[in-house]
Amino acid sequence: MTDPLFDLSGRVAVVTGGMGQLGAELATGLAERGMRVAILDLETAPRVGTAGLATAVDEGTIRAHACDVTDRGAVEAALALVDADWGVPHLLVNAAAIDAPPDAPAAEVGPFEEVPLDSLERVVHVNVLGVVVCCQVIGGAMARAGRGSIVNVGSVYGLLSPDQGLYDFRRAAGEEFFKPVAYSISKSALLNLTRYLATYWGRSGVRVNTLTPHGIENRQPDPFVEAFASRSPLGRLMDVSEALGGVVYLASDASSYVTGANLVVDGGWSAW
Ligand SMILES: NC(=O)c1ccc[n+]([C@@H]2O[C@H](COP(=O)([O-])OP(=O)(O)OC[C@H]3O[C@@H](n4cnc5c(N)ncnc54)[C@H](O)[C@@H]3O)[C@@H](O)[C@H]2O)c1
Repeated sequence: MTDPLFDLSGRVAVVTGGMGQLGAELATGLAERGMRVAILDLETAPRVGTAGLATAVDEGTIRAHACDVTDRGAVEAALALVDADWGVPHLLVNAAAIDAPPDAPAAEVGPFEEVPLDSLERVVHVNVLGVVVCCQVIGGAMARAGRGSIVNVGSVYGLLSPDQGLYDFRRAAGEEFFKPVAYSISKSALLNLTRYLATYWGRSGVRVNTLTPHGIENRQPDPFVEAFASRSPLGRLMDVSEALGGVVYLASDASSYVTGANLVVDGGWSAW
């Protein structure tokens, strides 16, 4: 029996970036809890294999829409399809984002003094303006419907500076690598976008919160895993499944008086 406080069955979710590692896990977990889930992503096939996602797509509880979240027309078109099929969404999870990939050009991951502005603009365009667009279009529809919950996926790197010591192993191997500033400033912007919208829509029945995960296990190199574990109060990276509980909470009636908040799921990283 589902606790009514956490019951999401029959509700509709949009998960952006739902073909990525975290988004796929969230979309699948929400579908398993009875939600109908629309994924908005550049890709329409999972980048990482989760059997649950494939099953839910086959069963029609998850539908994938090819959509660039920075393209307002594309987001409006996707929402029109979701609305026609299932009605106005109850939940929007903004998980689509980009970061410097492991093979990023040296300039992007080099010293701060040399980082090209166009790499910052690219990251901020997706990670901030993409969230703004989805909130405008989908959050706006929720506000007109008089209910909804938005979860903006942030990062500990938007709350605290990256510990560049985590990447010592890359520099020791001869690479000139620094975790870039673009990701940090883009994720910190979400904290105040969340607070802005929480107050803007407070009386429209739309709650807006940030979820701040940190360090999801994804076959990182051993020296990174060891350096991370030595700094983590829980002594380990996060399993991707460990973000779902926070999203279920923020989506459900269990959090009916929670808005403008930041739920930190970081294994205690920010506690010392
Ligand atoms: N992986 C981590 O350790 C970690 C830690 C903290 C926060 N996060 C955050 O969690 C979220 C998901 O991260 P992830 O690790 O699953 O990343 P990922 O790269 O696996 O997934 C991101 C997804 O976003 C999609 N995407 C990128 N640009 C898009 C656009 N313009 N329009 C639509 N879709 C777009 C990609 O196609 C991809 O499927 C991100 O917001 C990320 O910043 C991740």
